[in-house]
Amino acid sequence: MEKIRVKTAVKNYDVIINDKEFSKLNDELKNRKLSKRVFVLIDKNVDNKWGNAIRKQITMWSEKLHFHIYNPDERRKNEKSLTKIYSTLLNKGFGRDTLFITIGGGITGDLGGFAAATFMRGIQLVHIPTTILAAVDSSIGGKTGINFSGYKNIVGSFYQPDLVFIHPDFFRTLPKPEIKCGMGEIVKYAVLSDKKTFSFIDKNFSRLLALDKKILFTAIKNCVEFKAKVVESDERELELRKILNLGHTFAHAYETVSKFKLKHGEAVTCGIATAAILSEKLKMIEPKSFLKIISLCSKLKINSRLLIVQQEKMMNALNMDKKKESGVLKFILPVNIGETAVGVEAPIDLVLASIDESILLYKKLV
Ligand code: GLY
Repeated sequence: MEKIRVKTAVKNYDVIINDKEFSKLNDELKNRKLSKRVFVLIDKNVDNKWGNAIRKQITMWSEKLHFHIYNPDERRKNEKSLTKIYSTLLNKGFGRDTLFITIGGGITGDLGGFAAATFMRGIQLVHIPTTILAAVDSSIGGKTGINFSGYKNIVGSFYQPDLVFIHPDFFRTLPKPEIKCGMGEIVKYAVLSDKKTFSFIDKNFSRLLALDKKILFTAIKNCVEFKAKVVESDERELELRKILNLGHTFAHAYETVSKFKLKHGEAVTCGIATAAILSEKLKMIEPKSFLKIISLCSKLKINSRLLIVQQEKMMNALNMDKKKESGVLKFILPVNIGETAVGVEAPIDLVLASIDESILLYKKLV
């Protein structure tokens, strides 16, 4: 078991990576004297596979308990799902002393986190991420929110949880595309963190995809430790935290143009390759690191038929990026392994050429 402390201005909390029994959760809730009046927002698929084991443990902890089952989908991460949660909380008699637990992937965590942040101006919150992506990224750092009017995560808040409890056993029943999604974020942390972490992830890539217990545990630990440090120094994404969006400007465009058929993790990996290629065109990246990053990105086989070479569509999608500053696209580019430049402006012809080259790279890999 590993415990990583996240220290922010508003709250300090632990991220536990638990390789023991799930029942350890109750000890951790007890240690923190969290409320026994528990509202659980659980992903429907997780409930189908793990519901009995989860209910058994949480029932032992709680004095009042309600399970709210949610079918996660970006189209249902909206105000309708949110108001349904508020109504249920009120109808079931939950108040300020509620412990809100989210059990699921990033969508469930974002929606539930926002409900907890806003219900009665904020109640206790525990995230139990059940996807690799949520474990290494979205459950840590307090980003919560919903989609609104066609914009992703446009309404939300920073609301740090009281505990994040990662139980990697849950990953065993993840569908293959969901494992790939998590790998996209792991690739991101490999590039962002340092040479040692990079080569560990690079060397063990296929074992990670096969969910090797020990390797996955170490990789999650490395990613969480790195993210904790970034969040501690810049909770509100004023500067350093922007690096966590590496590859995401391109990724969101790839996803949009594919009508969201391309998985987020696949899009992120291709987005990181595109960012590296753009960095190389701008002569910003160290040549050896460039080759290593491209080689790592190429290890995740992606459904390249969904990468669409239509420059106009890509440009329209890129221009919807909410990270634009004064209407200008700014890129986050790798300059070395463990070194990233933020706020980079680039000539449009180089941006389009980088997109074409990375799409070609993935099409050749098939
Ligand atoms: N997922 C990026 C962040 O938490 O800042």
